[in-house]
Amino acid sequence: MTVGVVPTGAGLGAEISGVDLSQPLDDSTFAEVEAAFDQHGVIILRDQKITPEQQVTFSGRFGECAVNHNAADFGIDGSPEIYLISNIVEDGRFIGTPKAGPEWHTDMSYAKVPARATMLHAIEVPEMDGLPLGDTEFANTAAAYDALPETMKHRLAGLKGIFDFRGRKRGRPISEETIAKYPPVEHPIVRTHPRTGRKGLYVMRNDCTGIVGFESEDALSLIGALANHITRPEFVYRHRWRVGDVVVWDNCTAQHKAMQDYDLPQRRLMWRTTVKGTEPF
Ligand code: OGA
Ligand code: MN
Repeated sequence: MTVGVVPTGAGLGAEISGVDLSQPLDDSTFAEVEAAFDQHGVIILRDQKITPEQQVTFSGRFGECAVNHNAADFGIDGSPEIYLISNIVEDGRFIGTPKAGPEWHTDMSYAKVPARATMLHAIEVPEMDGLPLGDTEFANTAAAYDALPETMKHRLAGLKGIFDFRGRKRGRPISEETIAKYPPVEHPIVRTHPRTGRKGLYVMRNDCTGIVGFESEDALSLIGALANHITRPEFVYRHRWRVGDVVVWDNCTAQHKAMQDYDLPQRRLMWRTTVKGTEPF
């Protein structure tokens, strides 16, 4: 099997060909996939026909799977690692989280040890007269860091962002239980990729609620300016989903955001798996 890697031509991401996830991947094939993942931040594998177990197996090649705190409500029987992202209603209730990630973010930044990778597998893609809806946008935090003026890089060196649910200005309400489980954490705003050594920006509106040693107003203005910079068009790739897509993103190199431009009867169903990471430095 020859692995092909074709960059999207946008701010990040590459499409991988020659990999069939319904078959076992040998170590050298996976090494090529992982190298593309490290380099491009987002990888796209089209036309995959896989079972939940096969998705969990592929996810497990990147590291240990995390069981999402929503999986008990929004899971698949027999595969606790799979968590459904969906607006589909059955028996009067959503079968998954209906509107995951409508703002720019990176997964589990609220945790001391955030996720390395997140994988979505498209089972149903909403559309309007053939026009696919529910795209996901990705932004390249490493390219955004590289493009900063030296004076700003200098200012950011050593700064720590504060991630605190209780200070969040927007988003869904967080349960008391989750708040208790995830006390406020600090992460470096300039984060070093644990595998490539590349520096990237680890900061965003909403989830990042402050900066250590800064007055709130000053912190929010710097956070806002950096968030706007990271999501400039030249750093962004917008993924248009097709049924069968498997997309994996690196939560250090990429931020992402879901377009909310669809609603029932337009159905969206994604199987999500999350891979544990390492403490940011
Ligand atoms: C997520 C997420 C985006 C999407 O699952 O973490 O942000 O487009 N999803 O569903
Ligand atoms: Mn997300």
